[in-house]
Amino acid sequence: MNFEGRHILAIADFSKEELLKILSAAEEIDSSQYKYSGMLHGKILATLFFEPSTRTRMSFQAAMQRMGGSIIGFSQVSTTSLQKGESLPDTIKIISGYCDAIVMRHPETGSVAKAAGDATVPVINAGDGPNEHPTQTILDLYTIQKELGTLEGLKVGFVGDLKYGRTVHSLATALLHFNPEFYFISPKSLAMPQKYLEELDKKGIKYSQEEDLFKVSKELDVLYVTRVQKERFVNPEEYAKVKGVYKLDKTLVQHIKPECKILHPLPRVDEMNPDLDSLEQSIYFKQAHNGIPVRMALLGLVLGKIK
Ligand code: CP
Repeated sequence: MNFEGRHILAIADFSKEELLKILSAAEEIDSSQYKYSGMLHGKILATLFFEPSTRTRMSFQAAMQRMGGSIIGFSQVSTTSLQKGESLPDTIKIISGYCDAIVMRHPETGSVAKAAGDATVPVINAGDGPNEHPTQTILDLYTIQKELGTLEGLKVGFVGDLKYGRTVHSLATALLHFNPEFYFISPKSLAMPQKYLEELDKKGIKYSQEEDLFKVSKELDVLYVTRVQKERFVNPEEYAKVKGVYKLDKTLVQHIKPECKILHPLPRVDEMNPDLDSLEQSIYFKQAHNGIPVRMALLGLVLGKIK
């Protein structure tokens, strides 16, 4: 199992054993981060963000710096020569010569995979439009395993924007390795895309689709809440119809099992009232912080320093 030089583009590119290996490397880092502090000394990570980000960009940057490496990059295209009309392939070819790995977020499906074709260093997908967000999924898996003690046989409910929610697409795909049962809870217009449902049918994975969260919430081991992805809607009227469709607050506690864990990739807008934070089941801030050991593990593996 060798990760050195490998792109991280889609979660389906990773076997169960490979995912478990990454989780185990993250766990080791989590327990003794100081051992890794100089591991990437002299290495440079480029973070290329064509869309806003707080967690993904900064946790990759913090992970790199915690391992002794350094950062270049941009979060505003207007500061680059793309603004003058330079092409993305040329930009990627140039930046490849300045760094040892690239982390890229872009609004178009498949754009990061395309960039990987132009790069001479490993490229990590930090979210390509509504398609995938594989490193978020690895930290979601890490969080679930750490908090529930297992990934196997869980009943997982996804609620909110399942159509455009790239974290949902990647996490549901990864969990296929672990014999899950899925509950997809959304308005019909934001339902899980057909291609993922077809994959579940092919693999014989049990799932249901529901609009009312409270009809199924007592069943769940994990409730994965998502924001309606305003930036993906072409028509603002369509967004207005589903905005605020789920508004969870601390009364949710009456509708879930005590051992159920509530995750959210964040940012949240109006789908989760901050009073929900007081519930023991709410672990989304821990989840976000797990981005550090997980992304340290990924950088160490891809740069060939963790074997
Ligand atoms: N979860 C996530 O991708 O957050 P950011 O958009 O802040 O990176």
